[in-house]
Amino acid sequence: MTAPSFEEMWAELLPVGRSASSGGYRRFAWNSADAECRAWFEQQARSRGLAYELDRNGNQWAWLGDPQAGGAVVTGSHLDSVPDGGAFDGPLGVVSSFAALDELRARGTELTRPLAIVNFGDEEGARFGVACIGSRLTAGVLSREAAYELRDADGLRLPDAMEKAGYDPGAIGADDDRLARIGAFVELHVEQGRYLAEDQPVGVAGAIWPHGRWRFDFHGEANHAGTTRIDDRRDPMLTYANTVLAARKKAGLAGALATFGKVAVEPNGTNAIASLVRGWLDSRAADERTLIALVAEIERAAAERGERDGVRVELTRESYTPVVEFDGPLRDRLAKRLDAPVLPTGAGHDAGILASAIPTAMLFVRNPSGVSHSPAEHAEEADCLAGVAALADVLEDLACQ
Ligand code: GLV
Ligand code: MN
Ligand code: MN
Repeated sequence: MTAPSFEEMWAELLPVGRSASSGGYRRFAWNSADAECRAWFEQQARSRGLAYELDRNGNQWAWLGDPQAGGAVVTGSHLDSVPDGGAFDGPLGVVSSFAALDELRARGTELTRPLAIVNFGDEEGARFGVACIGSRLTAGVLSREAAYELRDADGLRLPDAMEKAGYDPGAIGADDDRLARIGAFVELHVEQGRYLAEDQPVGVAGAIWPHGRWRFDFHGEANHAGTTRIDDRRDPMLTYANTVLAARKKAGLAGALATFGKVAVEPNGTNAIASLVRGWLDSRAADERTLIALVAEIERAAAERGERDGVRVELTRESYTPVVEFDGPLRDRLAKRLDAPVLPTGAGHDAGILASAIPTAMLFVRNPSGVSHSPAEHAEEADCLAGVAALADVLEDLACQ
């Protein structure tokens, strides 16, 4: 049986978890769409005669060659999405990995190292608030204890969600043995800015900006919208709104980024002053000093405004990823081999998490509009196929030495 082509794999995954109303994807960790994606991955592995493996952190692996041999070359990405995400962020890397492996087989390449394809679980952190949970657990960057405390919007704990989906959370945690068997990890990903020109379908990642997520809790007092005099109110919505504006202004001045993209209001009634507003800040900058100073300034602005509004402000850092400089020799080797430009990115990736433990690199496929984390995310098919060829070249180079 011949393996399905890139286009066939793409068409198969396209409807999974896609909202009919928005056209965006809702593939969240351990939900039914995630299960369908996982079933698809397993089937791709088995139909190619690859050894399929589910690791203790819920990441899926497909092995060509002996997984225990060591020095493995690993490629892959993730299949989950942000709320109403695009089709490419994550799946492009996984589909391209299978297509690149098929390309190597078609070329008759004799690999001297094991080759693996991985689907990391919960990269986007849409459900439990922390991004890259599968790779963070594996690398020991997220402890088992901390992971056990994570809850989704309905209060369901991460291990309970895993169990409900039929997975055993009993052994989650750092997986040093696995990492020790990997010689290099290369993740292909759709580019999420507009750094690549029309004649440059593929780029190589240089660095990832430091970034993190902070939760602001604005505690006010619930009261009647029609009877409470303006001067008597302790309205957390005001403090929240002012904090959003301050964040935007201060980020602009610092040449950094600050986004409130998620908010929850209690009790969430039109005719009631809110008792609590929760706003999640995603902030990123080219260097850590700028980022930390920016978040401190936003916190100060929130506290000052909170004092005027009679609102108590509480800040919790939910996750933080320091700056990632990808492995220099590996980056240069890929850039030279592909004659491709080296680009920075503000987006987080599993490759960025693993970079602290193993030599890691990334390939970016051109995104003509730069739009990402949106149903409008797009890459041209010709560029995707150029990405597959580039990934095959890189894997051949690394796995035949
Ligand atoms: C992942 O896509 C992130 O950078 O938020
Ligand atoms: Mn993403
Ligand atoms: Mn991604």
